[in-house]
Amino acid sequence: MISMKRNVLLVAAFAAVLLSCRSAQTPPRSATDIGSPSRAPDLGLALYSGDRRPAVFPAAWPLKAGRRAVFGAHAMVASDAPLAGQAGIEIIRQGGNAVDAAVAVGFALAVVYPEAGNLGGGGYMVMHMADGRAAALDYREVAPLAATRNMYLDAEGNLTDKSIVGPLASGVPGAVAGLTSALAKYGTMPLAQVMAPALRYAEEGFVVDSAFSRALSTNATLIAQYGGKAVFLPEGTSVAPGTRFRQPVLARTLRRIAEQGAAGFYRGETAQAIADEMRRDGGVITTEDLTRYRAVWREAVVSTYRGYTLLTMPPSSSGGITITETLNILEGYDSLAPFGSARATHLLGSAYQRAFVDRNSQLADPAFYQVPMAKLTDKQYASRLRAGIQPMHATTTADVERDMATLRPDEPMRSRLEGTETTHYSVVDEAGNAVATTTTLNALYGSGVYVRDAGFFLNDEMDDFAAQPGKPNMFGLVQGEANAIQPGKRMLSAMSPTIVLDRTGALLLVVGSRGGPRIITSTSQVILNVLDHHMILSDAMSAPRIHHQALPDTLRIERNGLEPAVMDSLRAMGYAVGWTSGIGLVNAIMRVPGGYEGMSDPRSSGRPVAW
Ligand code: DON
Repeated sequence: MISMKRNVLLVAAFAAVLLSCRSAQTPPRSATDIGSPSRAPDLGLALYSGDRRPAVFPAAWPLKAGRRAVFGAHAMVASDAPLAGQAGIEIIRQGGNAVDAAVAVGFALAVVYPEAGNLGGGGYMVMHMADGRAAALDYREVAPLAATRNMYLDAEGNLTDKSIVGPLASGVPGAVAGLTSALAKYGTMPLAQVMAPALRYAEEGFVVDSAFSRALSTNATLIAQYGGKAVFLPEGTSVAPGTRFRQPVLARTLRRIAEQGAAGFYRGETAQAIADEMRRDGGVITTEDLTRYRAVWREAVVSTYRGYTLLTMPPSSSGGITITETLNILEGYDSLAPFGSARATHLLGSAYQRAFVDRNSQLADPAFYQVPMAKLTDKQYASRLRAGIQPMHATTTADVERDMATLRPDEPMRSRLEGTETTHYSVVDEAGNAVATTTTLNALYGSGVYVRDAGFFLNDEMDDFAAQPGKPNMFGLVQGEANAIQPGKRMLSAMSPTIVLDRTGALLLVVGSRGGPRIITSTSQVILNVLDHHMILSDAMSAPRIHHQALPDTLRIERNGLEPAVMDSLRAMGYAVGWTSGIGLVNAIMRVPGGYEGMSDPRSSGRPVAW
C-alpha cells in the first residue's frame, strides 16, 4: 500500500516535471582565481557567426529548430518565472551586479514560484566574476539532529513514504543562509534592497497566471493535507488565473530576513514557527537545528573539455563530478558522431551509464565521506572507462559495475547496486559576472507541509538520501552506504549549476536544470549541443534529450526524439531503450556578439528577462 503510494508519487513527480515540466591531460584546476577575462565580443562574433550550424531534429519531434532566443545587450536572467526574472533585472538596472540580481531572483522565486522557489529548501550556486574569481556555494539542506539511518523504515524494514510526504521528510532548510552568504561575499547591495521586489510581490500581490494556477491544481491533493490549503486552495480550488495573490504571512517573514539577515529566519519568530509546525505533526526539526545551519563555500570543480573550461558544483552535489566524468569520457572521441545518430546516442548513453555508477556509489557529503574527487575527475581514469565502451554494443550496468570495480581493487564496492521539483536560474550582467543557481524543495511543493505562521512550504529533501541503501528513491536512483542518513549530513544532490568559458577564457554559457538525476543529463546535453554539435542556444535547448542513470539499466529518450530506425539500431546494440517524457527543464544564457542570448526550456512556462 505504502509502496503503491510511493509509486504514485513517483509517477506524479515525473508527470509534474513534464507539465511545468580532446584530449588534454591537465588535471582539474583549483578555482579560487582562474584569472580569465570575462568578455571578448570580437572573438564571440567569430564563435557565433562562423561556428554555428543548423540543427536537424527527427520529423516527429515537436520542438522545431531555429527558434529565436531572447537577446539582451546588457544583462539577462533566465528563470522559470518571468516575475522573478524581472526582479533580477530591476536590481541590475539599479546598479547591482549578477550576484545581487541572483539573490533578488532567489527571494522572488520563493514568492511567485512556490512549487520550487523557496525559503524552506536549499540549493547550489556557481559564480564566475568578471575579475576572474570563481566560487561555489553549497546551501543544501542537512539531516536534522534527530535523524536516524532507518527513520523511514517500518517495523518490517520496508520503506515508507515518510521521506517524501509530511513533516519527517524535511531537511533543515539552507536557502536563506545561502542567499544571504552569496550577497555578503560577492554582492554590492544591502539585503533589504535586493529583497525589495520579493517583498513587494508578497505584500502587494501579483497577478496569478495559468501556469501558477495549474501547478496548484495538479498538486492540490498534497497541498490540501497541510496548512497551505487556506492560502493556495481557498474554497477548495486553486487560486484562479487573473487573481491578485497576496501572501501577508510570507511578507512578514521576508521583512524579518530583510531587517535581521539570516537570523530573521534561523532564530526568533521564524525558527519558532518552523519548530512549532514540526511539533504539530511529528516532524523533528528543532530551533537548535536551525541555529546550527551554515551554508558552505567550496571550490568549484574546474575541468576542461576540448579546450573549453567548465566550472561546476562539487559535492555535496553529484552534478559537477558526474558531468566532468561524462565529458572526460567523451573527450577521447575525435567527434561525437552526428546529433541523433545511433552512434552518438550510444556513446553518450554509455558515458552517462559509467559516470552514474560512480555517482551512485562514490559521492556523498564530503564532511561525512571521503569522496575520491581527484580520481573521478582524472582524464586517465576516464580513458580507462572509455576503453570499456564497445564500438557498437551496449554493456549491461552489472557488467560495467563489475569492470569498474577492477579499476579500484583497493576500494571495495561501497554498495551492491541492485536490481521532480527544482528550479534553475542563470544570471549575467554587463560586466560579465555570471551566476548559475539551482534550488529546490525536491518534489513540487516539497513535503506538502506549509509553515502556516511563516508562510512557506518545507522541502522533502530527505528522500535524496539512500533511505535504504541499495533500494531506489523517488527518482529510481539506487544509491549506496556513502549516502546513508546521518544527523547533520547533506543528502547527495544532482543539481548542476555550470558555467562554461570559451577557449580564450571568456564567459560562454551559464546553464543548469531541474529534474532529479535528469538535471545532470539535460544540463550536459545543452553544453554538448553547443560545444560539439555547434548549435545555436535555442536549438541546443530544443533538441531532444536522452537519459541513462546506470540503474534502472535503461536508455530513455524523449518521446519522438530519435528516428524509429535509430531506436531499432539501439535495440539491436542491446539497449533496453524506451520513450520518456520531459528530460529536464533548463534555463541557459549564452554570450553572443554584442550581448547575451537567454533561453528558458521550451518544455516549460519559463521566460528569460533581458536588458
Ligand atoms: O537535489 C536533487 O538532486 C533533487 N532534490 C532535485 C529534485 C528535482 O530536480 C525535482 N524536479 N524535477
